Amino acid sequence: MKHLLSINDIDKEFALTILDTAAEMAKVTEGPVKKLPTLRGKTVVNLFAEDSTRTRISFEAAAKRLSADVINFTAKGSSISKGESLKDTAQTLQALGADAVVIRHPASGAAHRLAQGRWINGTVINAGDGTHEHPSQALLDSYTIRKHLCAGTGDLSGIHVAIVGDIIHSRVARSNVLLLTKLGATVTLVAPPTLLPHQVEAWPVRVSYDFNSVLPTVDAVIMLRIQQERMSDLYFPSEREYSTLFGIDSERLSLTKSTSILMHPGPMNRGLEISAEAADSKQSVVVEQVANGVSIRMAILYLFIAGSQESING
Ligand code: NCD
Repeated sequence: MKHLLSINDIDKEFALTILDTAAEMAKVTEGPVKKLPTLRGKTVVNLFAEDSTRTRISFEAAAKRLSADVINFTAKGSSISKGESLKDTAQTLQALGADAVVIRHPASGAAHRLAQGRWINGTVINAGDGTHEHPSQALLDSYTIRKHLCAGTGDLSGIHVAIVGDIIHSRVARSNVLLLTKLGATVTLVAPPTLLPHQVEAWPVRVSYDFNSVLPTVDAVIMLRIQQERMSDLYFPSEREYSTLFGIDSERLSLTKSTSILMHPGPMNRGLEISAEAADSKQSVVVEQVANGVSIRMAILYLFIAGSQESING
C-alpha cells in the first residue's frame, strides 16, 4: 500500500498492525533515547493549507523521532486551492525529493488528487481533507480506546462509542465510523438532526437525539468541535440550547460508567460542546490523545515509507 488517503484504504488486519506498531513506537519514545534511525535520509514534507496545531506538530515530531528530514510548508491563503496550482505545488515537492507528503487541505478530495495526479513519486498521507476524512486521527482515537478499554485482548468488539455533535462537518467522525466499525466496535451518533449527514441511515451506526439515554451505555464518548468556520447556515437556535442538549458537563459525565473515557480531537470550544470541568476531569483523555497521536504517526510514516520489511531500529 502506497498512500493513506482514507480508512477505506486499509483492512482490519493492517489497521491492527498500525495500532500494534504505534504501541512499539510508544515504548521506544518512553525510553532514554527518543530518536530512531529508521527514516534517516528520507524527506517528509508537511503541506498544510488549513489551520492546524496538533496534527501538524504531531506529524513533525513523529518524522523527527524517526530521523527524517522535515520540510514544513504552510500554504494558507495561497493559490493551492485550485487543481492546477496543486499540481504546481506537487511538482515543486517532487523537485525537493519528498519521500512522503503529509497534506491537510480545505477541499475534500485534495489528498486523492495529489496521489492520483501522479505528479509526485512519494507516499501521500491525508492529514484532513475538507469534511471528508482524517485517517490518522481515527487511528489515534482507536489506539487510545484500545489502550484504556481493551487491555489484554486488544479487541474492540463489544466496545460502544458515542460520537457527539457536529457530525455533518466532521472528517473525524467519518474516519472514526469507518475504523471503529471495521474493528468491531458499535457506534452511536448523537446530534441534532440538522448536524447529521443527509444519508446517515446508510452508515453502519445507531443514531440518537437523546444524549442522556446513551451515556450510561457507552465505553467512550468522542465530543466534536462545533465547526463554525464550515457553517454557512444556522444549524441550531443558540449556543446555549446546543450546549444544554448536546454539550457534556460533569453532571452528564456522571451518567457514564466510571470506567468510560471522554475524548475530543481538539481544539475544544470549552463552554460550548464541553465544559471546562469535564475537559479536565479524571475521565478525560484529551491530552493523552495528543501524545498517542505522535506514536500513531510514527507508525504510519514507518509502515508507509520504510515498509514492514525493515526493523524499527533501522
Ligand atoms: C480536527 C480536524 O482538524 O479535523 N482536529 C484535529 O485534527 N486535531 C477536528 C477539528 O478541527 O475540530
